[in-house]
Amino acid sequence: MRAAARAEEHRNGAPAGPDADGRLPLGDDRSHRKQGGQRPHLSIGRGPVEGGAAVEVHANVGDRDAGGGDRRRQDGVAGRVRVDGTGRHHAHAEGERQHDAQRQQALSDQASEQESEHRHPWPSPDYTEVVRRTVAGWPARNRLLGWASRAARPDRGVIPVDRPEIILAPGPTPIPPEVLLAQGSPLVYHRGPGFGGLMRDVTARLRTLYRAERARILLLTASGTGGLESAIQNCFSPGDEVFVPLAGFFAERWARLADAFRLTVHPLEEEWGTRLDPDRVADALARDPGIKGVLLTHSETSTGVIQPVRELARVSREAGAMVLVDVVSSLGAVPFAFDEWGIDVAIGGSQKALSASPGISFVAISDRAWGAAQGAENPRFYFDWREYQRFAELPDPENPWTPAISVMQGLHAALELYFQDGVDAALLRHQRLSRAVKEGVRALGLDLFGEGLDDNWTVTAIRAPEGISADTICDRIRSDLGVVLAPGQGPLKGKVFRIGHFGYVSELDIIRGLAALEMTLERLDHPVKRGAAVAAAEQVFQEAH
Ligand SMILES: Cc1ncc(COP(=O)(O)O)c(C=O)c1O
Repeated sequence: MRAAARAEEHRNGAPAGPDADGRLPLGDDRSHRKQGGQRPHLSIGRGPVEGGAAVEVHANVGDRDAGGGDRRRQDGVAGRVRVDGTGRHHAHAEGERQHDAQRQQALSDQASEQESEHRHPWPSPDYTEVVRRTVAGWPARNRLLGWASRAARPDRGVIPVDRPEIILAPGPTPIPPEVLLAQGSPLVYHRGPGFGGLMRDVTARLRTLYRAERARILLLTASGTGGLESAIQNCFSPGDEVFVPLAGFFAERWARLADAFRLTVHPLEEEWGTRLDPDRVADALARDPGIKGVLLTHSETSTGVIQPVRELARVSREAGAMVLVDVVSSLGAVPFAFDEWGIDVAIGGSQKALSASPGISFVAISDRAWGAAQGAENPRFYFDWREYQRFAELPDPENPWTPAISVMQGLHAALELYFQDGVDAALLRHQRLSRAVKEGVRALGLDLFGEGLDDNWTVTAIRAPEGISADTICDRIRSDLGVVLAPGQGPLKGKVFRIGHFGYVSELDIIRGLAALEMTLERLDHPVKRGAAVAAAEQVFQEAH
């Protein structure tokens, strides 16, 4: 079917996109950013709402019909949230909205903000009780997942607050509220102008991020590994020779993938944590002139090392090989330049530096790689780039299959946020967060792992102190303080733990993580100078202001 006719058919058969320009209405008034950068308060997930000055909690636990309405409290500001026995929030029914509107009008006519605060202290005793009872009603499994149950334990003397865990792991990274709202919005139908607009915007943003003017950019429904697999399928035929420098877990994944598709893999075995030497790679390539592709990992997430892709690409091109780079955990966090560095394929993922949900992998493809894809004989179907390209060229771009629509809506919002400050600002932020983590950890007397530390802005791998397993540190900091770090992988298991500092991570997130690390080490009987890591990180942040 011809593209235009096909697009027409979809237009006729599908609901129109959300606005006249075919753009997703994000509904995100970002004025809060300009007014001091406060994050909006949200009612997302299980449990009560943070920063409750704008929220009324309706105590309706267990005995829904037994006078829940009598327990209502009114703070006179925004909306209301109902917490039921499942811990979920519910907007009030339509009939109650009118009542809300009238009541809010009356209140705003009536009381000053101060008076209102005075009448309704936060958190109120009712609120605390509601949370305690709600949490107590959750299945044990759910309670173990969060830390609300722990926080709610009276023997710990902590007021019950339900907060998500603090994620300082190298992906998925924390997700901004604007992104959660966008991906929780009504689905944009995937054939038609709405989704087409999303795809156009997302692709254009990614093109800027990749610094790739001419490349084809495809959006696949898959995690990062799917994108890697698509590259092996589309660029090669069984028996083709590829070269893989191995210095960590994800480089090894490249080799396993290539092997699974019956390519001939030439490995260069290096110690994990090594920053690859382009001369050694050039020498190895010179020994095997039949090599068709070099498979690189830009940010080796298992060790924190950012590999010198620019130089590695140069020597690979000089050897006549295509350059395929895994940028899953690097794109958006450290400098990258697809065109200038002569990259052929670069594969990224939605859930790392961009802070969207997992589920979309994107692939930038050079003319040379596109040419290779026309003749490649590896089996491919779901990830056949030719299909993706055909649909991407429709007047309203589409995916060949049903895409992860909500993830796309979220990714769209995530890129909007990322580009508000611009790429350069984002890169500088990552550099600063990385320095703060490294200085903080050093101040505790711990050793950092891996080479090229000044360039490693995504993840920091830290050697566990003598006599303590890194896994124990990860377990303990999570169970005691709700901070998620990543354990070591492969030969580094038990020896290093990793702090991810990319994506939607703030300076205070880092401070909290370092404070938690200090407390955890002390609880594990490792001597620490309290506050040393926090002070060192603050120093980095304050110097930058
Ligand atoms: C460098 C790198 N490559 C590939 C992957 C695999 O991505 P996914 O888990 O999204 O399949 C990851 C995930 O952590 C990664 O860090």
